[in-house]
Amino acid sequence: MKKILIIYFTESGSTREAADIAAMQLLKDGIDIDVFSVKQAGHISSYDAIIIGAPNWYGKPAPKVRKFLQQNQDELSKKPTAFFFTCMSLSEIAGEAPPGLSIYKDLIFDQPAKPKNEMTSWEKNHATSLYVKNLSKIAPKIKPAAIAFFKGRLDLKRLSFFNRMAMKFITLINKEVAEGEYLNHDAIRDWAEGLSPGLFMPIKNA
Ligand SMILES: Cc1cc2nc3c(=O)[nH]c(=O)nc-3n(C[C@H](O)[C@H](O)[C@H](O)COP(=O)(O)O)c2cc1C
Repeated sequence: MKKILIIYFTESGSTREAADIAAMQLLKDGIDIDVFSVKQAGHISSYDAIIIGAPNWYGKPAPKVRKFLQQNQDELSKKPTAFFFTCMSLSEIAGEAPPGLSIYKDLIFDQPAKPKNEMTSWEKNHATSLYVKNLSKIAPKIKPAAIAFFKGRLDLKRLSFFNRMAMKFITLINKEVAEGEYLNHDAIRDWAEGLSPGLFMPIKNA
């Protein structure tokens, strides 16, 4: 039986919920699965594949996940990996689809790509291609088989004081970012269901 580890970080809970939903789906598909927060994550060597879930903070995985990726980059680069992000915004720059990578987007983010010069700076800073570039800058050796983006949750009262102030300010200046529960369980199940065959393909140069 194949064994997958899902590692996540969460502040307001939606990324953990997404990890649990994906885990339930993979279990149904006959995969043995462990789910741990980055704080609990121990040895990753005994797993056949690793899925990493993170909220997007300013266009990058939240800092604790960045640290985990940097500390475990060598080991992770030898394993099939997939990522999922929860975030509030996602846009597409025309002609900038990352090649050779399976990208899954929550339907809510399914909007037409725009030429860069017609985008607001918020849109440019929330483009799929930028998220992918940022990820490969953080851990260049890791070559994910798949990346998914799900709209998560914005619940200011669950955030630390500093993050609450920052996100409150963003909600005031950007109508696209509003408090609410957006997690689409069906989208997460759909992604997880389609994930397993590709995720277990041997990785090149491992
Ligand atoms: C400090 C901070 C920075 C964030 N930056 C972004 C961002 O750049 N883009 C975005 O779409 N969402 C951003 N968000 C929203 C989170 O990605 C979103 O609320 C996520 O679903 C939270 O996940 P959690 O419930 O697991 O903590 C940010 C949230 C916080 C707290």
